[in-house]
Amino acid sequence: MADKVYRASTTAPVNIAVVKYWGKRDSKLNLPTNSSLSVTLSQADLRTLTTASCSASYPASQGDSLLLNGEPSDIAGARTQACFRELRTRREALEAADPSLPQLSTMPLRLVSENNFPTAAGLASSAAGFAALVRAIANLYELPASPSELSLIARQGSGSACRSLFGGYVAWRMGDAADGSDSMADQVAEASHWPDMRALILVVSAAKKGVSSTSGMQQTVATSGLFQERIAKVVPQNMAAMEKAIAERDFASFAEVTMRDSNSFHATCADTYPPIFYMNDVSRAAIRAVEQINAAAGRTVAAYTFDAGPNAVIYYLEKDTEAVVGTLYHVLGGEVGGWKSTVVQGLKPSISLDEGVAGILKAGVSRVILTGVGEGPLKSEEYLVAQDGSPAKR
Ligand code: DP6
Repeated sequence: MADKVYRASTTAPVNIAVVKYWGKRDSKLNLPTNSSLSVTLSQADLRTLTTASCSASYPASQGDSLLLNGEPSDIAGARTQACFRELRTRREALEAADPSLPQLSTMPLRLVSENNFPTAAGLASSAAGFAALVRAIANLYELPASPSELSLIARQGSGSACRSLFGGYVAWRMGDAADGSDSMADQVAEASHWPDMRALILVVSAAKKGVSSTSGMQQTVATSGLFQERIAKVVPQNMAAMEKAIAERDFASFAEVTMRDSNSFHATCADTYPPIFYMNDVSRAAIRAVEQINAAAGRTVAAYTFDAGPNAVIYYLEKDTEAVVGTLYHVLGGEVGGWKSTVVQGLKPSISLDEGVAGILKAGVSRVILTGVGEGPLKSEEYLVAQDGSPAKR
């Protein structure tokens, strides 16, 4: 059966941090300067599907390959190579221990991957992408590795990817070992612990592509004084407060820490020399909108957070859908797509936003995504590589 094609498929989710990873203490091993914590988002709305395959019939001269959204993707980079190497080494150990196993570690890998959301939306897809890649190959190789062990590998692909190996509420513990062996993710709480957490994403188009997170965080580490305060004091406090808020399902505390941590991260970007700006006028209008919604509601019902780009992610609880989604739907519903009829049906515009804020949002938000907390990677029976090894026609 020299031409047998071995296959495994998995999906993996996107995660959005509420305590941000920003800064590397070792860029080769991708070790962070601080711990971080995120919410895994539902794969019904945002996920990567990856099929990993290998076969002795794949030409060795072509080597490993990855097709992403129908386009050949560069896998020569040190980060992807590190993931392949780590996974192959673990498979080799299994094969050495049991010579009856097929020698999958010696065969070229053919990977095919697809996102169910537009890459153009500017959503961090590398987290879902590397998590799916690592999980799919680990399944193909039948590695007995736990999600935390796999997070050590995914971390080397992209830091935030290590958190996408779990569902629910996930921490990436920075660790202190020089070899990175304790810098991995663990689950703080299952999605079912606090299942009514929702996220409304305002997709904001950036005028031009900003500084990549890899390069941005390196500039911040090298030049910002404020950053030292953040990693020494602010983040450790935020991590502790966030874990408590999640354990107690205390939304007001969850929201305050989320907003403060996003503000702190973007302040260190502004303190980078020369400064880095990820948020724009539309992002700032989204902050004002959240403040106005919270003020009108008389309690904290919404929390904003921003990554290395202008998109706003607004967390809220299901019971406050009317105050949060209803208000924004009233302003943007006629202009942009992405609303789910099951969510917005019958919502009354109970809160009205300041006209200036509403105008900036109307002009600058290109679409919305309505989603919520979700599960970690799932095995899939959908294969993007056919039984004969060819990429599935779609
Ligand atoms: C702002 O994980 O994309 O989204 O490790 O260099 O690939 P690399 O960086 P990446 O950085 C994510 C930064 C962030 C915050 C976060 O997700 O915690």
